[in-house]
Amino acid sequence: MTTLGTPLSPSATKVMFLGAGELGKEVVIELQRLGVEVIACDRYADAPGMQVAHRSHVIDMTDARAIRALVELERPDLIVPEIEAIATEELGRIEADGLATVIPTARATQLTMDREGIRCLAADELGLRTSPFAFASDGETLAREAEHIGYPVFVKPVMSSSGKGQSFVKSADDIQKAWEHALSAGRGRQVRVIVEGAVDFDYEITLLTVRHAGGTDFCAPIGHRQENGDYVESWQPQPMSAAALQAAQEMARKVTDALGGRGVFGVELFVKGDEVWFSEVSPRPHDTGLVTLSTQDQSEFALHARAILGLPVDTSLLRPGASAVIYGGVNAEGVVFSGIDVALEVPGSQLRLFGKPVSYDKRRMGVSVAYGADIEESRMRANRCASAIKVSEFTG
Ligand SMILES: Nc1ncnc2c1ncn2[C@@H]1O[C@H](COP(=O)(O)OP(=O)(O)OP(=O)(O)O)[C@@H](O)[C@H]1O
Ligand SMILES: [Mg+2]
Repeated sequence: MTTLGTPLSPSATKVMFLGAGELGKEVVIELQRLGVEVIACDRYADAPGMQVAHRSHVIDMTDARAIRALVELERPDLIVPEIEAIATEELGRIEADGLATVIPTARATQLTMDREGIRCLAADELGLRTSPFAFASDGETLAREAEHIGYPVFVKPVMSSSGKGQSFVKSADDIQKAWEHALSAGRGRQVRVIVEGAVDFDYEITLLTVRHAGGTDFCAPIGHRQENGDYVESWQPQPMSAAALQAAQEMARKVTDALGGRGVFGVELFVKGDEVWFSEVSPRPHDTGLVTLSTQDQSEFALHARAILGLPVDTSLLRPGASAVIYGGVNAEGVVFSGIDVALEVPGSQLRLFGKPVSYDKRRMGVSVAYGADIEESRMRANRCASAIKVSEFTG
C-alpha cells in the first residue's frame, strides 16, 4: 500500500523538481493536491513551478556538486527532472547511493538528454525504424555524412531542444551554415551534431506513454504542428489507421521499457500511411501534451504525479480538444496580458498563463486549450482563444 505524509512535517512525502517551467508547474499543482511537499529548482528566480511549490532554490543544474549539496540538504524521496540540461551523471550517483529515486531513472535521463544516446538505443539496440542518421564533430564530417545520407537533411546539436541550433538543409551549399548555427546554439561541452535524412511523413504524433505500478498505458495520439522545431499547436486524438496505431504503441512500449522507471514519457513519432518512424522520447510530460488539460480526466500532469507516486492511472480520452501556444512577442519584464475576457468567451476554452518573469519574442508565455465536437472545431477554438491575447510591456 502506498502512503503519503503531511507536508512540512516529519512524515512528508517530498518531491524535488530540477527545472520548474510550465510543464513542471502543472505537475507541482497535481502533487500539491495530494499533500506532497514540493521543492522546485531552476536556474532563475520565480520560475513558473517555483510559484506553486513549498520552497524553491536557484541553482546551476549542470553543476554536479550543487545538485548533490541540495539533495543532501532537502532529502527528497523523489527527484523529478523537468529539463534535459542537468548534470545527469550526478543523478546516477544519487540513485546508486540510495539517496533518492530519480524519475523515471537516472539512466533514462542520461540517455535522453543526448540525441546520440537515445538514437543508438532506439535504432541500433531496439531495432526501431528511424530516419537515416549519422553524427559529426566537425564541418567536414558533417558535409560528408550529409552527402552520404542524401539531401534534404536536418542538422541538430546532440544536446539541444525546442529547435535550438537546428537547420533544415536542402543542399550542400548550406551545410557549413548549418554547422555554424549548431555551434552557436549547442549546449554543454560537446560540439557534436546529428544529421538526419528528412522523413516525408503524412503527420507526426506524440504518444504519451505511462509506465505505472500496474503496467504501461497509452493516451490517445496527439497530433501537432511545429514551426522551426518548436510546437505551435496540438490536438487530440490524431486520427490514425489501426495498423499505424498498433505499430506506434509497440515502438513506444519497447523504448519506454528499455528506459524503465515510472512516469509519463512523450514518444515522438512520424507516420506515413501504416508506417511509423521513431523520432525521439522525453522521459517526462511533453509540451504538445498540454492539450490533455482539456481532453482527459487525468491530464498528462496528473498522470505523471500519480505514476511517480505508485498510484493507479486512467489514460482515457473524454473528448476531442486542441491547444495553441501564446508567444511573448515582446522582450520585456513583468508583461501585461490583455484580451483575456474576449479569449475566454470562446466556448470550451481555458487559458494557462505561466507567470514567467521575463518575456521574449519567441518565448512561450501561455497556452490556450479548448474542446469541441471534433478536432476541427477544437483547433479553431484554441486558436481563436490564443490569438485574442495580447502581451505588452507594463507602462505603469
Ligand atoms: N528527420 C526528420 N524528418 C522530418 N522531420 C523532422 C526530422 N527531424 C525533425 N523534424 C521536424 O522537426 C521537429 C523538431 O525536431 P526534434 O523533435 O528532433 O527537435 P527538438 O529540438 O527536440 O524539438 P522539441 O524539443 O520541440 O521536441 C520535429 O517535430 C519534426 O517536425
Ligand atoms: Mg521533438
